[in-house]
Amino acid sequence: MAEKIQSVRGMNDILPPDSNLWQRFEDTCKKVLASCGYEEIRTPICESTKLFSRGIGEATDIVEKEMYTFRDRKERQLTLRPEMTASCARAYIQHGVFKKQPVNKWYYLGPMFRYERMQTGRYRQFYQLGCEAFGSEESTVDAEQVALLHQIYSLLGVKNIDVLINSVGNSQDRPVYREALVTYLKPFLSDLCGDCQRRIESNPLRVLDCKVAKCKELGQEAPQILDHLGDKSKKRFDDFRQALDVLSVPYKVDSKVVRGLDYYTGAVFEMVGTSKNLGSHSTLGAGGRYDNLVESLGGPKTPAVGFALGIERGILSMDEKPTDLKPDVFIASTVSEAKNSSLHLAFKLRKLGLIVEFEHRVASFKSQFKRADKLGTTWVVSIGEDEFQNGTCKIKNMTTRAEESISLDKCEDFFSAQ
Ligand code: HAM
Repeated sequence: MAEKIQSVRGMNDILPPDSNLWQRFEDTCKKVLASCGYEEIRTPICESTKLFSRGIGEATDIVEKEMYTFRDRKERQLTLRPEMTASCARAYIQHGVFKKQPVNKWYYLGPMFRYERMQTGRYRQFYQLGCEAFGSEESTVDAEQVALLHQIYSLLGVKNIDVLINSVGNSQDRPVYREALVTYLKPFLSDLCGDCQRRIESNPLRVLDCKVAKCKELGQEAPQILDHLGDKSKKRFDDFRQALDVLSVPYKVDSKVVRGLDYYTGAVFEMVGTSKNLGSHSTLGAGGRYDNLVESLGGPKTPAVGFALGIERGILSMDEKPTDLKPDVFIASTVSEAKNSSLHLAFKLRKLGLIVEFEHRVASFKSQFKRADKLGTTWVVSIGEDEFQNGTCKIKNMTTRAEESISLDKCEDFFSAQ
């Protein structure tokens, strides 16, 4: 026997009926985003490594240890995208989109890659659905996005979600806060975990969202960034909160929301689920403002804000169970000469918008009806020897078990009238 090949660890197949639930999830997200004028952008899965190291930040976990980086045949260093904000900013600059209209709103959906430790809700290939708004600095855009994320989960029936918000300040505020934080943490250096001992130099804000108990404990008492915001950032954060209040989005201010990507410059937010299916990875979606990213990648100064949600985590947080697609009509026939006319009928009924399953194999009615029943079909159209000779068919309602005989060319009318 030939060796069986398995999928790569941390990268999953999504089979029916799960894929049906995925489609429902994605359709809901797309509808909500389209209602707010977001249009789809698709970018390559692979980009130059420097896009992510510069965009996300050299000192982040993603860039330091989670990227799938390789050289192509011409020795170019490429990386499978770990997220899409940097790719959107690159595309925004590359195509001079800002010259065409002042505000651009994009959404995207697709696989991202991070070499992380595999656990429930944390994978090495995972799907994100995200959106980015380029060109406006108003806090109402930030609030609108939080409300969209909230609306998506409400429509999907996910209850008990917390919206956590914070501000990481702008480039003037952050050095001041950073100094205060490092001064506070330094005396406890030996109590911090290995990662945080390193982070204290490279990225001290990340100590605040470390999951190690002792670091968490120290984080509780640490100075808070909201006390170190300059007037401009303070005003923007107040405006953001006011807009959330107007939209009746419930939220909690949480100073530990600092985000794992370096490009954020102001309001940041996370949506946390409480479903036990999520395990310890309960952040369903997250984002924030990044007003310097486009400029740092060689574009014009462009305010921007966005978020991304993890589809696997979204699906895990839903109570709804995946179900197979149920055919409206199953066409069964025991006469091989009737196969072509049955197939033709299937296409005509599909044009009416019905889901029609056609049994291509020659099999007994007993087995075909059994299969139709198993699939949860509403109607079975059957063509046996007699029906084939008379140009008729039988139509059975699988719920009431009532059956009637009609002329084959009246089938479309019959189903149009249902
Ligand atoms: P992020 O927080 O790294 O942000 O990821 C956003 C969401 O993706 C997370 O809240 C989580 O639901 C999901 N996610 C992240 N990593 C994994 C994983 N390994 N397995 C499963 N799900 C995962 C970003 O990626 C930013 N680009 C968001 C953003 C857009 N900010 C501004 N615009």
